[in-house]
Amino acid sequence: MEKAALQKLTVLCLICAFAVVALLGVTAFSDGKREWKDYQLQYKDELLKKMTRERNPAYYDRIAGMQPEIKQVTVDEWKTVDRCMSCHMGTEDPLFADAASPLKTHPYPELLKKHPVEKYGCTICHGGQGLATTYHGASHKTIANWPFPMVPKGLMQSRCGYCHKDFEAIGADKLVKGRQLYQEMHCSGCHQIDNQGGAVGPDLSNFADKDPSNFSYDKLDGNHSKQVWVMEHFKSPQKVSPGTPMRTYALNNEQIECLSSYVLSLSQRNLQRQYTPAVKAGFVAPKVDVTVPEADLSLEDGGEEE
Ligand code: HEC
Ligand code: HEC
Ligand code: HEC
Ligand code: HEC
Repeated sequence: MEKAALQKLTVLCLICAFAVVALLGVTAFSDGKREWKDYQLQYKDELLKKMTRERNPAYYDRIAGMQPEIKQVTVDEWKTVDRCMSCHMGTEDPLFADAASPLKTHPYPELLKKHPVEKYGCTICHGGQGLATTYHGASHKTIANWPFPMVPKGLMQSRCGYCHKDFEAIGADKLVKGRQLYQEMHCSGCHQIDNQGGAVGPDLSNFADKDPSNFSYDKLDGNHSKQVWVMEHFKSPQKVSPGTPMRTYALNNEQIECLSSYVLSLSQRNLQRQYTPAVKAGFVAPKVDVTVPEADLSLEDGGEEE
């Protein structure tokens, strides 16, 4: 009897030991398959091809000895940890101008000089999930129920407005145009921005800071993100918010992007001094409730667009 029990125990131990070894093996394998590691190895290979050892042996050897590691930037100010650079290795490297994404040099190196990656990270401008280390997880494409997807290309300037109020000074043409449309179309008849305008609709002064969960996505076909909500709402307020007094304006796609970028830029965040750009002496943000003659933009009683 004793002997049989001992035998059973031995078998059990063996099974357990085997399971542990197998589990370790699987973990090590999937670890080795991580996408970011492949991009880093690819970066290393390509970088080594672009240089010769003779010119700078120490640097060459350092690159040759490079081991894959998570790269990250922590920004206390907006409580983010961005790991995007773990894949986007060439972002600040001019040698990678012709490389494929994600190794490619950033299209606006001058912009990154003004907003250094180690101080700003990426998500303050691009959105997305900074902590993620997979393509899917970083939210390049919308993920269901992740309310902070990457900012679509056409709306990138909305982020500049978080910090910059002088849109002209930084050449943010979409924000300039968006604000102008806002004036021409009398949006201030119903909305307030910085205490200017009416109170029929919601105050838009901090529209950028409004949580995406405040919006109803029932009537949306597209991705359920705040950015999509805003654009669809401008295309047809009635469809997205049934019963709203907001009418349908005849807007082309570019105008929708400008107007959406503008409202999505309206933030009341108090940023630390180091993230607050200096403005030209005497700069005053243009009033938004001025009466500017409206171009022929409205459709009769909210009818369908062309
Ligand atoms: C696992 C690797 C990986 C991580 C992590 C990653 N990316 Fe990417 N990214 C890619 C690849 C691969 C592409 C190119 C494929 C493509 O264009 O969709 C890409 C493309 C992009 C583009 C080009 C536009 C687009 O969507 O096609 C942007 C912008 C971008 N990434 C931003 C980011 C930001 C911001 C983060 C961090 C939140 C991030 N990426 C994290 C791999 C990654
Ligand atoms: C100061 C704001 C800012 C920061 C910080 C920033 N970007 Fe960008 N990025 C932009 C703008 C603006 C564009 C141009 C989008 C467009 O084409 O309209 C852009 C474009 C890109 C593109 C090319 C998109 C495309 O479709 O061609 C990639 C990739 C990218 N950024 C990755 C990154 C990564 C990775 C980081 C962090 C290491 C980063 N960016 C940091 C503002 C920023
Ligand atoms: C988190 C805040 C923040 C965001 C977001 C941001 N910026 Fe800036 N930006 C700054 C600060 C702070 C400076 C001043 C840096 C300095 O003093 O050199 C600056 C400087 C600049 C400058 C140089 C201005 C000058 O007078 O030298 C330009 C151009 C600029 N930003 C454009 C942009 C654009 C375009 C975007 C959007 C894609 C953007 N910024 C997003 C904070 C921000
Ligand atoms: C006749 C009054 C009226 C006019 C004019 C009007 N809106 Fe609205 N707007 C509303 C009301 C009411 C709501 C809330 C119901 C809804 O979602 O449509 C709203 C909602 C919004 C929202 C979503 C706000 C939030 O926090 O949910 C935005 C953004 C917006 N309007 C922008 C604009 C812009 C830009 C214009 C000018 C093109 C405009 N509105 C013109 C009445 C108006």
